[in-house]
Amino acid sequence: MTYETLKVVKKEGWAEVIISRPEVLNAINLKMVRELSQAMDELSLDDEVRGIVFHGEGDKAFVAGADISELVERKTVDALKAINAGLFQKIEDYPWPTIAAIKGYALGGGCELALAMDIRLGGRSAQMGQPEVNLGIIPGAGGPHRLSRLVGPGMARELIYTGKIIDAEECLRIGLLNHVHDDDRVVDEARAMMQTILKKSPMAVRVAKVALNAAVNTVDRRSQYVECLGQGMLFDSEDQRTRMTRFLERKKAKDS
Ligand code: COA
Repeated sequence: MTYETLKVVKKEGWAEVIISRPEVLNAINLKMVRELSQAMDELSLDDEVRGIVFHGEGDKAFVAGADISELVERKTVDALKAINAGLFQKIEDYPWPTIAAIKGYALGGGCELALAMDIRLGGRSAQMGQPEVNLGIIPGAGGPHRLSRLVGPGMARELIYTGKIIDAEECLRIGLLNHVHDDDRVVDEARAMMQTILKKSPMAVRVAKVALNAAVNTVDRRSQYVECLGQGMLFDSEDQRTRMTRFLERKKAKDS
C-alpha cells in the first residue's frame, strides 16, 4: 500500500512508519490522519509485523503539530469528531510495541502522537512541547491525560499552561524521552531496540503490552470526553481564529 503522507516500510518481523510532509515539518493534516489510521489497521492485521518504529522525514521535525492551515477552518462540530484522539488511541492500542525516534520538533499533536507510543527516543535536536494555548486551543488528543501520567501532573500542567518547548536534555530529565542519542544515531538506536524486543517471546511481549496498557489506562476514557468537549467549545472562539490566523499571516509575511 502506498500513501501520500507516509512511508510504510516492512522489515523482517516489524515495520517502519515515516511521517512524510517535510515541507510543513510533517504537520498532520486530514489526509495523514486517514492514511495513518489505515496503515495502523493494516499493520495490526499483518501477522508478519510485531512492532513499529516511527520517525519523521528529514532532520527538522518528527511532527510539528496538527496542520494549522486546516485547524483554522475547523469548527466545534469538526472538533467533536475527535479524529486525532481516535487515531492516537488506535496507536496506543496497537497490540505490539511502538517506538518513536524523534529528531527536531515534536509539538502539539506531534507530541501527543509520540505520547501514544510505548517508547520515545530522542535525537539531541529534539524539541517537545504542547504549544496549543498559543493558538487558543488545548492539546485535545490525549495530551492532558497521557502527559500527566508520563511526566506527572505538575510538569504536565506547567508544559500545557505555558506552552513552552523543551530541549532533549530536559525531556530526558522529566521522562518524556527514555534516551537521547546523536541525531544521526537515533533512528538506528530505535531499530536496534526493536530488534532486541523481537528476540523475546512474542506472546510474552504482547501480553506485557496489554498488561501495561491496563495498568496506566485507568481514567483515560473520561479524560478523553472532557478533552473533546473542551476542545469543541474552544474551536468556536474568536480568540482561536485570531491566534491561528496570526501564525498563518506570519507565514505570508515571510513569503512577501
Ligand atoms: N501547521 C502547518 N504548517 C506548519 C506547522 C503546522 N503545525 N508547523 C510548521 N509549519 C510550516 C510553516 O508554516 C512553514 O511553511 P512555509 O515554508 O510554507 O512558510 C514550514 O512548515 C516551516 O516552518 P517555519 O515556521 O518556517 O520553521 P521555523 O524553523 O521558523 O519554526 C516552528 C519552526 C515549529 C517553531 C514553527 O513552525 C511553529 O511554531 N509551528 C507551529 C507549532 C505548533 O503550534 N504546533 C501545534 C499545532 S496543534
